[in-house]
Amino acid sequence: NTPPVRVTVTGAAGNIGYALVHMIGQGRLLGPNQQIILTLLELPMAKDQLEGTMMELRDCAFPILKEIKGTTQYDQGFMGCDIAILVGAKPRGPGMERKDLLAANARIFKEQGEALDKYASKNVKVLVVGNPANTNALITAHFAPSIPKTNFTALTRLDQNRAQSIIAQRVSANVEDVRNIIIWGNHSTTQFADVSQATVQQNGISQTVRGLVADDTWLQKAFVEQVAKRGGAIIEKRKASSAASAASAVCDHIHDWLIGTDNGTFVSMGVITDGKLYGIKEQVCFSFPCVCKDGNIKVLEGFQWDQFQQSMINKTLKELLEEKEMAMSVVVSK
Ligand code: NAI
Repeated sequence: NTPPVRVTVTGAAGNIGYALVHMIGQGRLLGPNQQIILTLLELPMAKDQLEGTMMELRDCAFPILKEIKGTTQYDQGFMGCDIAILVGAKPRGPGMERKDLLAANARIFKEQGEALDKYASKNVKVLVVGNPANTNALITAHFAPSIPKTNFTALTRLDQNRAQSIIAQRVSANVEDVRNIIIWGNHSTTQFADVSQATVQQNGISQTVRGLVADDTWLQKAFVEQVAKRGGAIIEKRKASSAASAASAVCDHIHDWLIGTDNGTFVSMGVITDGKLYGIKEQVCFSFPCVCKDGNIKVLEGFQWDQFQQSMINKTLKELLEEKEMAMSVVVSK
């Protein structure tokens, strides 16, 4: 019998949080047998929504939820936490500029980093979902110096899942048979969905996506754009941003990180660079192809980029460096 795992979700009463806590109750994070002590952390102004969400969660009578707690305090929210899923963030308000959004979130994630450093398990696994997710993850890690940098990640799995589903439809395959699409860089419109390593299993044979699609112009332009702008397209139709798909991607990310990736399959995760990965000298949170085993993430290195790929990578890296500079200028005193 393994002890229960302590999972904390911030922004738990919001759009994504509401869907996510129910998926967690169903066992999507660590399987149907792992007991979880689930803490929902919210802002004081969302206290009623938090209580309502907890009432529903209790009414589901999920057997794996050993305890359900709700709080608006960081110390109670992160105490002893093994997995922290940071969804809550400041949304972009009317007339708000990108730099104001970066600044507001930098302050939030600085505080959360400090709180994790103080209260969470030293081996806590952190996933940042709240946007700008990559830069928020970098700030969180910076302010939690006693926790290894390798324990901080940002969510780009939703982009991977979107890309996989678009390709599956295009080549009439099952979505789970489409493998190894890579999301490089930032979870933003500069991200690069790359099919150069991707395959499709059909009738027991593995074929390359490039070979099956046989249209590089579509793969390099329309497809990349469709993946990058999918979030916007959903807002237009649903009049609300992606919630269930984001929550589902969170479960996929944590599941693969802690349970392990399948043999021959890699997944995309935003991880903090160490000055060597793919020659990126600066420290940023960049999405790479990763394999996971025993709770450790290994970035797959050695893929060679052609000129097109290099130009796409340069663009998303440039944006991450700009975001980093803006965010750091707010939270690090010179
Ligand atoms: P939402 O506005 O419905 O919910 C956010 C919740 O977070 C609210 O209930 C709010 O009270 C809470 N919150 C805000 N600041 C907090 C703090 N400091 N501590 C605790 N709780 C806090 O937003 P939604 O739709 O759930 O999205 C959440 C975030 O996820 C947004 O930043 C959104 O842009 C991002 N997102 C990221 C995706 C990704 O793939 N990385 C995909 C989709 C959304």
